[in-house]
Amino acid sequence: MRALAVLLLSVCATVVSGDDSTDNVLTAAPGALAVLPCYGEGNVTAAVTSWMKNGKKIITEGTSTLLDNSRVPSSGSKSRVAVLRNGSLSIGVVEREDDGLYLCASTLPGNITFHAKVLLRVASGPDNVSIAITPAGVLPNGTFTTFRGESVYIICAGVSYPAQELTLSFNGLTNSTTSLVNHTGNEVLEYRMDNIQPSAQGIYSCMAHNEVSDQKGNKSAEVLVYYASDRHPECMWTQESTFVVFHCSWSDVNPAPNLTWTELPSGRILSSNVTDELPLIINGSLLFDGQTLRCGAQHPALHKGEEKTCTFTLKTPYTMGNPLATAVEGGSITLECSESRSTPPALTTWRRGVRQELIVNGSKYRVSAEGPRFTLTIVNISKDDEGVYFCLSQNPLGAKELQIYLTVKSSSEVTGAVIGLFISALIVGCAVIIAKTVYSSRHRICLGGFGRMEEDEGDVLSLVESDDEQIFPAAVPRLPPVSNGCQTTLVEIHGIPSTNHEEAETVDASTAAQDDAGRTEEPEDLMF
Ligand SMILES: *[C@@H]1O[C@H](CO)[C@@H](O)[C@H](O)[C@H]1NC(C)=O
Ligand SMILES: *[C@@H]1O[C@H](CO)[C@@H](O)[C@H](O)[C@H]1NC(C)=O
Ligand SMILES: *[C@@H]1O[C@H](CO)[C@@H](O)[C@H](O)[C@H]1NC(C)=O
Ligand SMILES: *[C@@H]1O[C@H](CO)[C@@H](O)[C@H](O)[C@H]1NC(C)=O
Ligand SMILES: *[C@@H]1O[C@H](CO)[C@@H](O)[C@H](O)[C@H]1NC(C)=O
Ligand SMILES: *[C@@H]1O[C@H](CO)[C@@H](O)[C@H](O)[C@H]1NC(C)=O
Ligand SMILES: *[C@@H]1O[C@H](CO)[C@@H](O)[C@H](O)[C@H]1NC(C)=O
Ligand SMILES: *[C@@H]1O[C@H](CO)[C@@H](O)[C@H](O)[C@H]1NC(C)=O
Ligand SMILES: *[C@@H]1O[C@H](CO)[C@@H](O)[C@H](O)[C@H]1NC(C)=O
Ligand SMILES: *[C@@H]1O[C@H](CO)[C@@H](O)[C@H](O)[C@H]1NC(C)=O
Ligand SMILES: *[C@@H]1O[C@H](CO)[C@@H](O)[C@H](O)[C@H]1NC(C)=O
Ligand SMILES: *[C@@H]1O[C@H](CO)[C@@H](O)[C@H](O)[C@H]1NC(C)=O
Repeated sequence: MRALAVLLLSVCATVVSGDDSTDNVLTAAPGALAVLPCYGEGNVTAAVTSWMKNGKKIITEGTSTLLDNSRVPSSGSKSRVAVLRNGSLSIGVVEREDDGLYLCASTLPGNITFHAKVLLRVASGPDNVSIAITPAGVLPNGTFTTFRGESVYIICAGVSYPAQELTLSFNGLTNSTTSLVNHTGNEVLEYRMDNIQPSAQGIYSCMAHNEVSDQKGNKSAEVLVYYASDRHPECMWTQESTFVVFHCSWSDVNPAPNLTWTELPSGRILSSNVTDELPLIINGSLLFDGQTLRCGAQHPALHKGEEKTCTFTLKTPYTMGNPLATAVEGGSITLECSESRSTPPALTTWRRGVRQELIVNGSKYRVSAEGPRFTLTIVNISKDDEGVYFCLSQNPLGAKELQIYLTVKSSSEVTGAVIGLFISALIVGCAVIIAKTVYSSRHRICLGGFGRMEEDEGDVLSLVESDDEQIFPAAVPRLPPVSNGCQTTLVEIHGIPSTNHEEAETVDASTAAQDDAGRTEEPEDLMF
């Protein structure tokens, strides 16, 4: 009875306070069951209850015809609507048209009339909210994949009644959540992205909001943007004790490529993995000259079967340079050597003496390398520096050395040589002049000069002069004993008497000067 009193009190209050403030809003999906309440809780059965929709009476029931609270009309029953024992209006299968304002009028025991208002909103969803990217690949985990530069549509959809608001948002690795587009009124929202870039990689969310029911739904999808560098992978190497580590790396690609080290021409796969960088460790003793190691990169962003590669063709070092060098005491000398063939690049060192002692950079020796050119500068040369030097290039395949012999001269020798050189140049000049003079007046000389020469030579004189009298005398048995016989160059003069005493002496001096210089320069002056 206490409950009833409370109920009646509240009912009275309702009646007194009017209709508007107690509006009940109820949302029901199409096809669902809706129960519109009338006079609230309590074990009270009304005498008569009637319901009106949008001002039109739809049902009136007396006590006898009220349904048991536990019974509800089924969708198959004749009448979709019924009044329950507690006065509630039950709509078995809600239809869109059921949307409206409902009024309940109920006469309770004690001749009290009760009124109530219920606003029924028929709404559903959002349901089946979905997101898709097209055209795109789909990974087993549902992630979408596309390629840099492509144009794609992002399709956000949901089923809702009445129309929902669809919002597409993006949550990138760099960007925080950004709302891309909002739209109300459609079941599908299409968002076009042209020339898609790696920055567009991230999570896309499709959110649907039914403003009538205030229901929300969302669905997210991960989008990966694949791309591959236009450049080739990089092949590098390092040496670790007896092992050579070849590195293949390919940067600026997404996702990681499938890298494979292959030996050519055998085609044997040495190592393969899906990674940005693939090391290949080989025992140096297994490498040989001419062996080719190729790193091939396969990637989804490359055409089918296309491969980006870099290769090593292994080559032993090859050192080149001048094997002889001469330095002056007290001065300095720079020995040179070059090595550009070695693959992988060689380690080049300078060594000296038969024991090939390593030369270290310091005050006496300056070691430097500029690309393939290696130099060793020896300063403050002394006689002790004379000897053999080595430019030794080593790579895992082997070693090659250039042997350079350094001759050290005392400064006096050099002065002598310079003077000698000067004198010989002087002599050469004189000789040319004389020879030309002789030649231009050859008829006169023929008459007078040859009388003193050996008679059997006749008109033709074969004058053989040699740089080194020890070499030629035997070979030229018929050579007349021209003056003191110190001539060096072999000259044949046909029908031309060209010798006189003065010239022979000149030639002697020339030879002597040459001997002084310790050189073997040919006095080319006697040639016409
Ligand atoms: C009336 O009865 C129905 C069926 O048992 C129940 O669902 C509903 O909540 C009741 N209404 C009120 C206001 O108590
Ligand atoms: C409601 O009233 C009926 C009879 O009028 C009674 O049988 C029932 O037990 C009551 N229920 C409650 C919860 O008071
Ligand atoms: C209930 O009240 C109405 C007027 O408010 C009156 O016409 C009616 O006769 C009353 N009924 C009973 C059973 O008292
Ligand atoms: C949601 O999708 C399921 C399966 O595709 C379908 O059976 C169902 O009818 C859909 N719901 C709506 C409200 O469209
Ligand atoms: C899906 O798989 C890809 C590749 O295996 C991976 O990069 C990505 O993080 C995965 N995404 C999710 C959401 O698991
Ligand atoms: C979408 O709506 C939300 C709130 O409803 C707003 O914050 C956002 O700026 C809107 N985005 C666009 C692209 O209109
Ligand atoms: C990320 O944010 C920057 C500026 O903050 C904007 O220019 C860029 O377009 C955003 N990227 C995406 C995919 O929304
Ligand atoms: C998306 O829905 C899930 C539940 O399905 C919820 O936990 C999440 O917060 C929602 N996200 C957004 C952005 O609304
Ligand atoms: C990587 O490429 C090699 C050579 O084509 C192949 O044998 C291997 O199966 C590939 N690995 C993967 C994971 O695709
Ligand atoms: C491939 O690389 C991954 C890491 O990048 C490593 O964990 C795995 O052991 C490698 N597999 C082989 C066969 O080298
Ligand atoms: C490298 O190979 C050589 C010859 O095949 C072998 O003697 C040596 O032990 C190997 N080195 C290592 C560290 O395995
Ligand atoms: C050798 O030493 C000189 C200075 O004495 C220095 O300038 C030069 O860089 C060094 N060269 C090398 C290869 O260390």
